[in-house]
Amino acid sequence: MQNRRVLLARRPRGGVSQADFRIEEGPLPQPAPGEVLVKNLWLSLDPYMRGRMSDAKSYVKGVELGEVMVGQTVGEVLESKHPALKTGDKVLTQLGWQLYGVSRDVSKIDAARAPLSYYLGILGMPGMTAYFGLKEIGQPRPGETLVVSAASGAVGSVVGQLAKLWGCRAVGIAGGAAKCDYVKRELGFDACVDYKAGDLAAALKDACPKGVDVYFDNVGGSIFDTLLARMNLHSRVVVCGLISDYNATEPYAIRNWRCVLVNRIKLQGMIVFDWKERYGEALKALAGYLGEGRLRYRESVVEGLENAPGGLIALLKGENFGKQLVKLA
Ligand SMILES: NC(=O)c1ccc[n+]([C@@H]2O[C@H](COP(=O)([O-])OP(=O)(O)OC[C@H]3O[C@@H](n4cnc5c(N)ncnc54)[C@H](OP(=O)(O)O)[C@@H]3O)[C@@H](O)[C@H]2O)c1
Repeated sequence: MQNRRVLLARRPRGGVSQADFRIEEGPLPQPAPGEVLVKNLWLSLDPYMRGRMSDAKSYVKGVELGEVMVGQTVGEVLESKHPALKTGDKVLTQLGWQLYGVSRDVSKIDAARAPLSYYLGILGMPGMTAYFGLKEIGQPRPGETLVVSAASGAVGSVVGQLAKLWGCRAVGIAGGAAKCDYVKRELGFDACVDYKAGDLAAALKDACPKGVDVYFDNVGGSIFDTLLARMNLHSRVVVCGLISDYNATEPYAIRNWRCVLVNRIKLQGMIVFDWKERYGEALKALAGYLGEGRLRYRESVVEGLENAPGGLIALLKGENFGKQLVKLA
């Protein structure tokens, strides 16, 4: 058996391209005492990976040139020298873009509770982001209006459904009629605005007749700017992601700052791992809703490690429809 790894070959300027990655083959790593050898089954592709390809200062250090691309995987233990894990256990890892890896830092997951891939999405980091961002920063109250951008995606789809479950009016923003249709019909949002269709400000006014109390921002840029002008007095903005800027060489310059002052809007950035001590709480809540059939979920799957670069490139262009994954085995 040979290992295959995707390495960062070059730091992109602007958009990501295939030439920014290199695929390498090599021998299987051997587990040291306390470690497991894992065969990765699913790799998560996430927008934050664009940031890790850069050497700009951020909340976590970037990937070095020649290193394996960072990423969460779900895999199966092939060999264990870890006291609490045995061969065949299914685990959540940080092993990155490779078929096999060794680690002592893995968490066992319950394969009977949900499909394994869900631990990278609705029951994983994106689900935790939606839960804590909305609950702790958005602080929605029943009867309020919530708007979330990238509403059909991994984080956004959970945010809007939780807002509905917690008694709010949920309005999505998504790119294109098919995604908006899914957000309304399948996910049960009250409305969804297609930001690619034209006048976003007017469409938001129609969709949010009482203004916006919580905006969960996954995209930043002109959508965030437009939302600022629709926010109510004492409303909250969860600054979760800026995907519209990730490939930009110049950040978008916000124009509507005056609205923040006039309406005493509270804006707070969030990074999911600030809540890592409470992941169990979110997992219990999300798995509970899922088990009761009260949360819907969708995945976008590419097959094979060699297609991971193309999957990330497509994700950053919004071509995914649901949580983006790579099926490795
Ligand atoms: N702070 C944290 O701890 C944390 C954790 C997880 C994720 N995030 C952030 O949350 C956001 C969503 O992540 P996700 O994993 O759930 O991804 P996702 O929503 O499943 O996929 C990304 C979506 O972003 C939208 N998009 C792409 N380019 C865009 C643009 N230029 N303008 C507007 N929308 C664009 C696309 O949807 P449309 O086709 O609808 O435009 C695309 O499908 C990202 O910004 C990510 O960085 C933050």
